Amino acid sequence: MAINKQQVRTALTHVMHPEMDKDVVTLDMIEDLIVQDSFITFTIDLPEKDTKLEATLKDKCKEAIHKFVDEDAVLDITTAVNISKFRNGEEEQGEFPGQGHRSQKKQEQDQEDEEILTGVDNIIAVASGKGGVGKSTVAVNLACGLARTGAKVGLLDTDIYGPSIPTMMDAHGRPNITTEKQLIPKEKYGIRFLSMGMLVDPDQAMIWRGPMVTSAVKQFMNEVEWGELDYLVLDLPPGTGDIQLTLVQTVPLTGAVIVSTPQNVALDDARKGVAMFKKVNVPVLGMVENMAYFIPEDQPDKKYHIFGKHGARNLAEQMGTNFLGEIPLEQKVRESSDEGKPIVLGDMETKSGEAFVELSNNVIQQLAIRNQEQDPTEKIDIKIKP
Ligand SMILES: Nc1ncnc2c1ncn2[C@@H]1O[C@H](COP(=O)(O)OP(=O)(O)O)[C@@H](O)[C@H]1O
Ligand SMILES: [Mg+2]
Repeated sequence: MAINKQQVRTALTHVMHPEMDKDVVTLDMIEDLIVQDSFITFTIDLPEKDTKLEATLKDKCKEAIHKFVDEDAVLDITTAVNISKFRNGEEEQGEFPGQGHRSQKKQEQDQEDEEILTGVDNIIAVASGKGGVGKSTVAVNLACGLARTGAKVGLLDTDIYGPSIPTMMDAHGRPNITTEKQLIPKEKYGIRFLSMGMLVDPDQAMIWRGPMVTSAVKQFMNEVEWGELDYLVLDLPPGTGDIQLTLVQTVPLTGAVIVSTPQNVALDDARKGVAMFKKVNVPVLGMVENMAYFIPEDQPDKKYHIFGKHGARNLAEQMGTNFLGEIPLEQKVRESSDEGKPIVLGDMETKSGEAFVELSNNVIQQLAIRNQEQDPTEKIDIKIKP
């Protein structure tokens, strides 16, 4: 029988904090709970570093889950020091953490979370296993391509480790904030966009751990005035690790677009990307082959398959997913990215501009099919509710 989160939560109420005379759930120490088949992962938040306490709590949590839920459950428990979370509680209450006023605040936050992005019709994640394959280039041109059809489009760069949207849209600096402390997205070329890199100091970002990235993304979702949107495109960080897995479960994604280049090393990672989305029940809209072939600037009729031919197209077929299109490797794509003017909005003389228009149309088509055939994706609630 499949394990559910409520069973895990209930089991964890048997784990008492050795000094507080309360259990870890009541103390609001459990975050980012994910249950997948018999695999359970969560974070134990602590107000300060305490190696002995961390080890004790981990052991007790394991014991409780094996005893009350499933003796074969596979557990991955991390610990995190979350100073600000518990400091709040101290100020309000003189004791750590999570009772009274703070827990009321948290409930309000939970309610807000439930209404996450209600004005957005379709949320599309652009992902890849590997970095440098053109994920951000595809995300930006897809967003602008969708906007060309007259749709209302948002673009959010969640890649705090290597944000590229500010350069690709030529918009830097912090976003403005309303009197209600909501962030106002930047607007250009008919799309609203924000990059987490606009708010986070890049040197700081490098030391962020997964749970910090996830909570920052959640905050972005709740605290940005996106307004009504037909499409919100998310540029995900490269890879298929914990950060990506948690991210894709934080937001009710309509579907994912996987970007790969044709060579085997990239395809292996793209395969992992498709598998990750399937595992968490996010429909894969299809695969894009970027840098499919090289077109020399002075010989636009030539095609050189320098990374191999049809690699991503074949992989899409193998994995039973759609092929959304191929984008050539052209100097103008790189130049327009560096200049902050996405090629899809430029002159349609280039093969890549045309290819991005075609890609956007294919994504619209696949979204329509997906929305007709399947229910909206359920957001997996990775928060513990008191
Ligand atoms: N089709 C293409 N033709 C030419 N240059 C490209 C193409 N796609 C991406 N690039 C360039 O390759 C680099 C990496 O692309 P980027 O979109 O930042 O990758 P990722 O987001 O996957 O790390 C950028 O300099 C970008 O301009
Ligand atoms: Mg990128």
